[in-house]
Amino acid sequence: MLGIVCVISFLTISVALTAMQFKETKSMHAARRCVEQLDAPGDPVRFSDDTMIVNTATIGKDIKGFIGTVPVEVYIFDGKVVKVSALPNDETPSFFQQAARLLGSWTGLTVKQGIDKDVDAVSGATFSSNAIIANVRVALEYAAKVDVKELRSRSLAPTPTKDAQSLGFKKIDVMSLEEMPAGFSFYTGDNGHGLLLCSGDSQHSNAMTIGWGALGTLWGKRPAVTVYVAEKRYTREFMDKYEYFTIMHFPDNRVVDYMGSHSGRDGNKAQALGLHTLYTENGTPYYAEADLVIECRMMYGGDQFDPKHYRSDVPRERYKNFPAGIHYQYIGEVVNVWKKN
Ligand SMILES: Cc1cc2nc3c(=O)[nH]c(=O)nc-3n(C[C@H](O)[C@H](O)[C@H](O)COP(=O)(O)O)c2cc1C
Repeated sequence: MLGIVCVISFLTISVALTAMQFKETKSMHAARRCVEQLDAPGDPVRFSDDTMIVNTATIGKDIKGFIGTVPVEVYIFDGKVVKVSALPNDETPSFFQQAARLLGSWTGLTVKQGIDKDVDAVSGATFSSNAIIANVRVALEYAAKVDVKELRSRSLAPTPTKDAQSLGFKKIDVMSLEEMPAGFSFYTGDNGHGLLLCSGDSQHSNAMTIGWGALGTLWGKRPAVTVYVAEKRYTREFMDKYEYFTIMHFPDNRVVDYMGSHSGRDGNKAQALGLHTLYTENGTPYYAEADLVIECRMMYGGDQFDPKHYRSDVPRERYKNFPAGIHYQYIGEVVNVWKKN
């Protein structure tokens, strides 16, 4: 009897584990399709202040790990490697975690020392390891070839505004909010759409997924958007600094999932997803791949909910175990709206 119970338990657990594995594989494939659908970003180099960041999404696209590409970002400051970080990939997480131990192997080395360094693969995770090693080498060889000063000054030049119309965007009258697509709502979930909030300039920008907010009218007949950004979000630093922001609608949840589960503090999310950043005539960043862009000019912001004004237990309960901190509210006047047909 005991034997039969054990066999049944074993079979149940196996089926559950297989189902979990299948789920993970499906979502990993979805993520890859997402990156494949969007064009890879053209320029492998960007700067964060004076640190050059070489991204191997395009220059390392032929290097394969066990399942697919294993792009990395190599941070170089003053000719030396500051850090190497992995970008999203489809490798089996348990193997990739072992291989990821190698990412620190180049820290502190000059570009030349890094190219010459022999790094051994982690046994048991050889494919992922070799892909990391090859990607870092490609990045360093790229860095050795480029004229850093020239690239840096080019990156500081203002980025010309691209013509949104040629990308399929149609400008719509901001006063005709009924022109907004039916899909526009602040609910984000299983119904296949989601919203991003983006802020910054041509040098630094960041976006994150938002689910909370309101679209309405305020202070006259002004169409206004209110968004709520938790204290610890990287995006909040941008919202506090810049005059304009954009809300973007994405037709599928794959970009939205990534933007809502990774922080821009750990790497450039738009670049990791292969999104193309464009700028409005006010210099506000948005992504070419969005199908609706609402540009707002900040009217009111940086105001954190104050517990002394809680009028019910709803906010109190909400923030009791909420590590991201109490939200700040920002209200922007809608100044431009573009949507794709
Ligand atoms: C569906 C969804 C909706 C979200 N809505 C909000 C929101 O309204 N406000 C907020 O502060 N965070 C929200 N988040 C969480 C942020 O998007 C997430 O923490 C993100 O990684 C922050 O990125 P950042 O650190 O680069 O700003 C949401 C996440 C998801 C997945």
